Amino acid sequence: NFPVITVDGPSGSGKGTICSLLARELGWNLLDSGALYRLVGLAARHHGVVLDDEDALVVLAAHLDVQFETSATQNEVTIILEGEEVTQTIRTEECGADASVIAAIGSVREALLERQRAFVSEPGLIADGRDMGTVVFPQAPLKVYLTASAEERANRRYNQLINKGVGASLQTILADIQVRDARDMNRAVAPLKPADDAITLDTTQLSIEAVLAAVLDQARH
Ligand code: CDP
Repeated sequence: NFPVITVDGPSGSGKGTICSLLARELGWNLLDSGALYRLVGLAARHHGVVLDDEDALVVLAAHLDVQFETSATQNEVTIILEGEEVTQTIRTEECGADASVIAAIGSVREALLERQRAFVSEPGLIADGRDMGTVVFPQAPLKVYLTASAEERANRRYNQLINKGVGASLQTILADIQVRDARDMNRAVAPLKPADDAITLDTTQLSIEAVLAAVLDQARH
């Protein structure tokens, strides 16, 4: 029974960055639950499974052969799917969109539940996702909900892509974010929303450092 800090929020709210910094700062383990949904999507492509074949997706999710290898510095995670390194492959916009479609299927979420809970280990876990506080770790002592305006989140994603040397259109990214928000918030199972006892941080005007400091402050209370 080690402590869990849950961090939920929409696409581009800065969860990924904050969670990896938190894990490093506290020396805790990290669960990137979004990666699991992305991996099911990639496995589906590899095995020729279409996204409306629920039964086949559940089988893939239940038997997902994946390893998360954390480097000594606790900051770099390498992801291996069926023996192949896919750390960058699953980060594409296509994989994100597939993940969001797959994530709306209740039986797939169910199939991934125990795998996510198994990440809890000494000395503690930072859990990054959409339903970490509401469904997967409802007993977590600290629950954070990160948000930011859709425009700001689109700007952040745009800058990330430009920095990686990838061409991008701000308008397209904003439209994609709005589609993904609507799908994540309006789905029947585990819709994206803050847990009743979550602390909500609107990061629209906050730097990464300020968000990190605010969460660490709560964690040390
Ligand atoms: O940060 P970004 O939204 O780009 O991606 P992600 O966190 O890797 O999540 C990808 C998709 O997986 C999201 O749009 C959600 O639909 C879904 N997801 C979910 O339903 N539940 C989670 N715990 C994590 C992700």
